[in-house]
Amino acid sequence: MSAGHDLLQALGHEEVLVWHDRESGLRAVVAIHDTTLGPAAGGTRMRTYPSFDHALVDALRLSRAMTAKAALAEMPCGGGKAVILGDPARDKTDALLAAYGRRLHTLEGRFHSGCDLGLTTRDISFLSQYAANISDAAGGSALDTAGLAAAGVFAGIEAAAARLGLALAGLRVAVQGVGAVGAQLARLLAGCGARLTLADVDRARVDGLARELDAAVIDPAQVYDADVDVFSPNAAGGTLNADTVPRLRARAVVGAANEQLLDPADGDALHARGIVYAPDYVANAGGLLSLLFETGQCDEAGVRERVRAIGPRLGALWERAQAEGLPPHRLADRMVEERLTAARRQR
Ligand code: NAI
Repeated sequence: MSAGHDLLQALGHEEVLVWHDRESGLRAVVAIHDTTLGPAAGGTRMRTYPSFDHALVDALRLSRAMTAKAALAEMPCGGGKAVILGDPARDKTDALLAAYGRRLHTLEGRFHSGCDLGLTTRDISFLSQYAANISDAAGGSALDTAGLAAAGVFAGIEAAAARLGLALAGLRVAVQGVGAVGAQLARLLAGCGARLTLADVDRARVDGLARELDAAVIDPAQVYDADVDVFSPNAAGGTLNADTVPRLRARAVVGAANEQLLDPADGDALHARGIVYAPDYVANAGGLLSLLFETGQCDEAGVRERVRAIGPRLGALWERAQAEGLPPHRLADRMVEERLTAARRQR
């Protein structure tokens, strides 16, 4: 059987939909992992996958991570994720987006989506003509999720520095990926006097930001070896693995990328090396908190306060993990299960 099939069994999704539209060429997978705490929330991403199974695995893993993110951020929502198969530069036609938007709308009340890799704010505004259940920051109904994600990671780095007994001024941070989140994070850190080393496969983008912030640039393949205090992964998933963890010289890892650990054992390896690890779904919950604004549960200041609370939440997680002798990612997973079990009992 395929990896996707095995994960379907293992992760216990509520519902997984496959959409195929002959006219527009749309092919998409929507994974609704868990709605115990409320309707599923999660972005829509578009990218080329080596196979359909890879797309299914991505949707399954990311939607489960959304359930965890929502549970620990104490949000009234569950976890979902949509992936559209195709090259955003070549295949993303208006007809394809319209076909996707019309189908997305049929899930209103059960799944709420937003922007993720491969989609732009223009695409989201276009989709919002067809689907009411999509966060449209440019249309004014939502906040800038990337900015909020960056603010949450910044709060996490501040907490990690405090745990290491270091100040933000002079803190040496390697930022991997300076896209929507990484660039805003780098600006926040630079504003506090941190010394930055930036890595991105997009050379023009990283050089421009390095000039703006007076930062160093490192080859993306060498970023794990950088002599820094904190490593901040803000690009793809799976970057913490058996090859990279032994190379890290940083004493803490805090970043926005989803699914950073290729395998939970890689989190154990970080712990064994004494590296303070911020589980991704705790550190990167800032974007999701925007939903509180959209649904009228919080004003912008309230959302920003909840984003800042990510720092103290991580601090408490590290304390408790130390007291219980557990790696933080294992404790976080357990806390998610506890929250879901308690909510199911109350139903
Ligand atoms: P983005 O696409 O704007 O930026 C990603 C950057 O990483 C790009 O500049 C890209 O060139 C670079 N990159 C790709 N592969 C790389 C590699 N191997 N080494 C170095 N750089 C590489 O994406 P965005 O929105 O900044 O998201 C970054 C991560 O954070 C993703 O994993 C995303 O799922 C996650 N995230 C994003 C949120 C959001 O609201 N944008 C919220 C929570 C998590």
